[in-house]
Amino acid sequence: MIRHFLRDDDLSPAEQSAVLDLAGRMKADRFAFASLAGPRSVAVLFDKQSLRTRISFDAGIAELGGHPLVVDTQVTHFGRGESLGDAGRVLSRYVAAIVLRTHGDDRIAEVAAGATVPVVNALTDGFHPCQLLADLLTIREWCGGTVGRTLAYVGDAANNMSHSYLLAGATAGMHVRVAGPAGFHPHADVVARAEAIAAGTGGSIRVLTDPVAAVRDADVVATDTWTSMGQEADGMDRSTPFLAYQVNKALLGHAAPEAIVLHCLPAHRGEEITDEVLDGPRSAVFDQAENRLHAQKALLTFLLQESR
Ligand code: CP
Ligand code: NVA
Repeated sequence: MIRHFLRDDDLSPAEQSAVLDLAGRMKADRFAFASLAGPRSVAVLFDKQSLRTRISFDAGIAELGGHPLVVDTQVTHFGRGESLGDAGRVLSRYVAAIVLRTHGDDRIAEVAAGATVPVVNALTDGFHPCQLLADLLTIREWCGGTVGRTLAYVGDAANNMSHSYLLAGATAGMHVRVAGPAGFHPHADVVARAEAIAAGTGGSIRVLTDPVAAVRDADVVATDTWTSMGQEADGMDRSTPFLAYQVNKALLGHAAPEAIVLHCLPAHRGEEITDEVLDGPRSAVFDQAENRLHAQKALLTFLLQESR
């Protein structure tokens, strides 16, 4: 069976844990793993901008002995009506896996429906599951584990990061609280799915409007941009409603004394997070960015192994 990673809940709790274990081993012995030796190629396709995802997949595939093919899709037929299912079918004849950053989740689902190799979500409008593997690895490193820890995500709780925190955090046995202003709450289906996962892992889910209640005694405080890619001109006020959700020293003061701070980057310094917090002693943000590399190497290795 071909294993795709389109959403965080495509990995069971045991599988997520195994991928994170492997990521830790790969980080400790960076060049000792060669699951793409051959070299086997991986197509890494972008419908949207990227720095971290693009470079970490490119470098990570090379470190595994593989050949990365990093392509901006405007130079392909993606934007001019080629069936995405056909594209997945064709690419599967060339490469060992397909990594795609795109807009709607329907688009990556179409590619996966045609593909006969693993398809990996490198961010969609709905989810950012590769980011969450890096975040969970970082939480393991800074907090000693994920099970039973409380994670508070504040800001645009309707976006891809919020949805991925709900699903991946629940899978990792965390108590996940997401808080955003009215009109910026997560999709009800995702909340229900996260609650169902949490019921099996000992985690829990809360959706709030009050940022202080969300952050209170939390072990991890996370935020993200208030304006995700593609939302720049959506007609919503993406500043005023969020001002109370800024991760600053005062808000962080409500968290546990040793709480860590996460941000997937790029940050809009002075908006969703202050310099003081982002550059401060509780910021794990740059470890989090590094961990994209290790987590994605482990993920690709796991998916290829499981898809044999
Ligand atoms: N965090 C993240 O996905 O960054 P990029 O958009 O730069 O890839
Ligand atoms: N929510 C952000 C994440 C960027 C990595 C976006 O979709 O633009």
